[in-house]
Amino acid sequence: MRVAETVERTKNHIARCARISNLLALWTMTTPEAELKSVFARHLYWAVQSSERLRVRLAELAVDVDPRMVLLEVGSDDLLACELASTTPEKIRALYGVALVNLRDSMTDHLNRTGALADEPTIRILSDLIASSTRIAEEADTALRLVCQIFPDIERASSSNEGHLAAKVPLRPARDSRFAETASNPNLTDTVKLLHVFYTDLELATIEACSRLIVEFPAMPWQFVVDMARQCWDEARHAEAFRTRLLQLGGRLGTYAMSYALWDMAAGEPVDVSLAVQQRVGEWVGVDGAIWQAQQLRFGGDEITSELFEFVALDEITHVSFGNKWLRLVAGSESRVRVVHDLALDKRSACGKSVDGPLTFPYNDWACERGGFTESERDELRGRFLKFGSQFQNLDETQEPARVARRR
Ligand SMILES: [Fe+2]
Ligand SMILES: [Fe+2]
Repeated sequence: MRVAETVERTKNHIARCARISNLLALWTMTTPEAELKSVFARHLYWAVQSSERLRVRLAELAVDVDPRMVLLEVGSDDLLACELASTTPEKIRALYGVALVNLRDSMTDHLNRTGALADEPTIRILSDLIASSTRIAEEADTALRLVCQIFPDIERASSSNEGHLAAKVPLRPARDSRFAETASNPNLTDTVKLLHVFYTDLELATIEACSRLIVEFPAMPWQFVVDMARQCWDEARHAEAFRTRLLQLGGRLGTYAMSYALWDMAAGEPVDVSLAVQQRVGEWVGVDGAIWQAQQLRFGGDEITSELFEFVALDEITHVSFGNKWLRLVAGSESRVRVVHDLALDKRSACGKSVDGPLTFPYNDWACERGGFTESERDELRGRFLKFGSQFQNLDETQEPARVARRR
């Protein structure tokens, strides 16, 4: 196959993957079943990564494209059917049973016609994508079977109290009927409550928030989508790990209250304010929180959950750095960064998430530095720590295990 035809076929795969990624971003928000949100987030990353690998190959062939701007050359009825699907089983059948199969067939045909002598890089990429697309279809199938066991009526009725959501950014993301803002079981252990809150209010909520940023701001650079998709994958792994650990510790989904605070805080805001609220301030609090929890759980003897939080904390630092990188680019000046940073604090306060008053967690300067805060910004963060104090200001590592043990 000559270069010109390779370019045209590759463009077509890129356009399909980019459209599938947008679809999956939308579905993390409009699909209620918690188990599927994280699966869609994983596959959103797969679709964006696939587009990105093909985009890089095209650049090597001297053609530069933005994956979202590439037009499909052949018909896209199958993708249109995905976009029109409203029930969860319809979505899964339309994407994994038809559109992804078509994409795989088209890649396989391309692969079979590519000359091994002339174009080994394309062969390598296509082989990887064909194999991984089979794997993600199996993952979706397994996840749907699990969801059908939890909601046996799902073919006839939505698992959400609100019914099926339209294929657009919703006012609030869909949540299945197991979850409520008031559900509370007083007999849960602190660790189960903690895992439940992280699962619903931080990990799933951040998948929805990153997806909204992808869908709502198509003018952002393609590399922004790559970062947000990577974050969706991280949050999906965190969500699934926390859910698994919660079940291992005897917990059940829906036994603790969930909230829409993270969603509401950035709703209707321009991209720089959304980034400040969610990525710069929200993820930063998440870093300190996760580091703190890892330490507390270790002192309390729960090595498994502690190890989990240790890894999560480091991913969250990367997410803060995504936020700071894109916020600086969009804001354009340090003064605008300060304005939106202050706005973000106000938005959090309005949603009951103040960062004023005694801090809940110790301040971690090294994490803030890796997260992309400048020296003067870190001085200010440290200043807040000194101004308001922290209940852990005089943390004594040698006394801490005994204190934690008394509390449990
Ligand atoms: Fe996370
Ligand atoms: Fe995160």
